[in-house]
Amino acid sequence: MRLSDCHNIEDFRKLAKARLPWPVFDYIDGAADDELTKARNTAAFETCDLVPDVLAGVANIDTSCTILGRKSALPLMLSPTALQRVFHWQGELAVARAAEKFGLWFGISSLATHSIEDIAAATNGPKLFQLYVHKDRGLNTSMIERCQQAGFDAMALTVDTIVSGKRERCLRSGFTTPPRFSPSALWSYATRPHWTFDYVLREKFRLPNLDTHVSEGSGKPVSIADYFNTMLDTAMDWDTAARIRQDWGGKFALKGVMSAGDARRAVEIGADAILISNHGGRQLDGSRAPFDQLREIEDCVGGKIEIICDGGVRRGTHVLKSLYAGATAASGGRLYLYALAAAGQPGVERAIAILKDEIERGMRLMGVTRLDQLTADRLRWR
Ligand code: FNR
Ligand code: LAC
Repeated sequence: MRLSDCHNIEDFRKLAKARLPWPVFDYIDGAADDELTKARNTAAFETCDLVPDVLAGVANIDTSCTILGRKSALPLMLSPTALQRVFHWQGELAVARAAEKFGLWFGISSLATHSIEDIAAATNGPKLFQLYVHKDRGLNTSMIERCQQAGFDAMALTVDTIVSGKRERCLRSGFTTPPRFSPSALWSYATRPHWTFDYVLREKFRLPNLDTHVSEGSGKPVSIADYFNTMLDTAMDWDTAARIRQDWGGKFALKGVMSAGDARRAVEIGADAILISNHGGRQLDGSRAPFDQLREIEDCVGGKIEIICDGGVRRGTHVLKSLYAGATAASGGRLYLYALAAAGQPGVERAIAILKDEIERGMRLMGVTRLDQLTADRLRWR
């Protein structure tokens, strides 16, 4: 299978599986407990159907919108995800450049493998920094200040990771950051020489936005679960979020809001957006899907804050259904991570191009030319 054989996100997943050592693939693909929430995140989009209009004159369509004060060519964001140089040696730079080429927002994680400064230098496109609140206050301040100086356009505070989810695939594989060549996976590393050579011979693995303050995760191998459970601040609360919102001063989002009540509090602390998200099913298994929660949250805070539906998106119609149900935009991680792992920047570009094509086709077949025509009356719930 080659990149040119990939025609949907599932194809990239298959190619990524063939190219990655299994502990790395399972870190991306895996989720918490029985992975029910991960499956539901995508299945939720099948609980409603689209009712198209015809003869609408759809020669020219406009897929653009404004998200967090910057124009986006599509109502789709690339969610922040950790450790990207483990998936492909180009890492976050590949995603940043692909996003810029297509005029999309992308996010980098606190656990990014390129520095805030290098990412900012690589792109003029809209970029978001995802903050994990660490026990080390100096580290939090350092990340916020570096983002201010580098000109990041927005900050998203992730609030669904107060402790780590139980990721059983990672427990079985012993996946750590930096990755270790565990005996049970040696065969897998040996039979993926491209990945292994890139990992061993290219620029040494680091977490450059954290390693000024902590060695765990960069110099000292730890599992993601241990990292979360020892480094992050379990005392984080609404006062913390409000303070970070003040310290940062720019466009601000809460990532991982699921209840209408919390959405209301996000408005109260002056957040500009919420990402309705369960972290791709990697945290609380049994949590509701973002798409299932969207209407309830829209009813409560619609018009007061931007609502981004994050997780489970694998098709252009999933993006469109999110907008029909009231979201400003949809967002996703694995939709571009499989492609990054499969083929670096050209992979990410191909994945975005496929979703762009699906969104445009979906709009034409629905008989709409602009995103503000995506109104809830065109959805029927089963
Ligand atoms: C993530 N996600 C994530 N979120 C976050 O706030 N900080 C992070 O460092 C990461 N890291 C991360 C790594 C990997 C491998 C995955 C798959 C996900 C969650 C991510 O931002 C997003 O919420 C989910 O990926 C959404 O679900 P889908 O689109 O993957 O189904
Ligand atoms: C994850 C992180 C790092 O989901 O947020 O693995």
